[in-house]
Amino acid sequence: MKKTVSAFLEAKQKGEKLSMVTAYDYSAARLVSDAGVDSILVGDSLGNVILGYEDTLSVTMEDMIHHARAVARGADNCLVVVDMPFMSYQVSAEQALTNAGRLMKEGRANAVKLEGGKSVCPQIKAITEAGIPVVAHLGLTPQSVNAFGGYKVQGKTEAAARRLIEDALAVQEAGAFCIVLECVPAALAGLITKLVSVPTIGIGAGKDCDGQVLVFHDMLGMFSDYVPKFVRHFANAGEVIKQALSTYDNDVKSGSFPEEKHCYTIDNDIIEKLKGEFS
Ligand code: KIV
Repeated sequence: MKKTVSAFLEAKQKGEKLSMVTAYDYSAARLVSDAGVDSILVGDSLGNVILGYEDTLSVTMEDMIHHARAVARGADNCLVVVDMPFMSYQVSAEQALTNAGRLMKEGRANAVKLEGGKSVCPQIKAITEAGIPVVAHLGLTPQSVNAFGGYKVQGKTEAAARRLIEDALAVQEAGAFCIVLECVPAALAGLITKLVSVPTIGIGAGKDCDGQVLVFHDMLGMFSDYVPKFVRHFANAGEVIKQALSTYDNDVKSGSFPEEKHCYTIDNDIIEKLKGEFS
C-alpha cells in the first residue's frame, strides 16, 4: 500500500524509523518499492549521478518532471517526493507555487522538497496552503554550494547550530510535514529531531533522526566520482555490472553469445527457397 504523508507523521509519533532512497527511473522505482522502502526522493542529485553535471545547479523543471513521471509509474508502495530544482522557487512564493503545481500535475509527485529555512517560509506556506505537501531541506543544501564554498558540514558553531534550530522550527511552522537534515553533526540533528513534531530524515546527520535517506547510486556502489563519509555501500553493484558488461563484450567478440536458445527459428524450406532465389 502506498505510504502517505499521515503515515510519516504517525511513524514519528510511534517512534518508527522511516526509509527513503532516491530513484530517477521506472525500473529503479520498482526495485525500491518492491523492497519495502517507505519513500522515493526524485532528487535533483540526478544532475550528478544521471546527467553528469558537477553540481545540481543546471537541473531544470523539465528534467525533474521527466524523471518524476517515470518514477511515479513504478512507485506503487512509496511516497514520491520530488525536488524543486535551483531557481524554480527562490524568486517568489508565486513562482514556487506554480512550479510545485507542475511537479504534482505533470510529474505525479506526492510531495515536493525545497532547500532553505526562514528565507523560503513564504514559499512553503503558499505551497502547503494550496494542498501540496512540502519536505524542507536544511543543513548542507547543495543548491547553495557556491555560497558555502564547497560541500561542508553545517551547524558546527554555536551561532550556526542556533540558526539551524530556528530554521527547523520556522519551516515546521510554515507547514513542512518533514525535514531533511544533510551533513549536520549527529548530536545537533538529534536535538532538532526532539524539538520538532514532524519527522526528520537524515543524510550524514546521525542515527537519531526519524529516518534516513541515501542516493541510490551511492548506496549501491554505482557512483565513484566522489563517496561522502556518510555513505555505506549496501552492495557493490557497480563492480558486478562492470564485470557483466566485460563478459558480454568478450562473449560477443568470441562468438559464444548468442546461443541457439536465444534464437528464433524459421522453416528450413523457406530459407533454402530464398537462397535459391537470391544467390
Ligand atoms: O537530491 C538529493 O538526492 C537530495 C538528497 C541528498 C537528500 O536532496
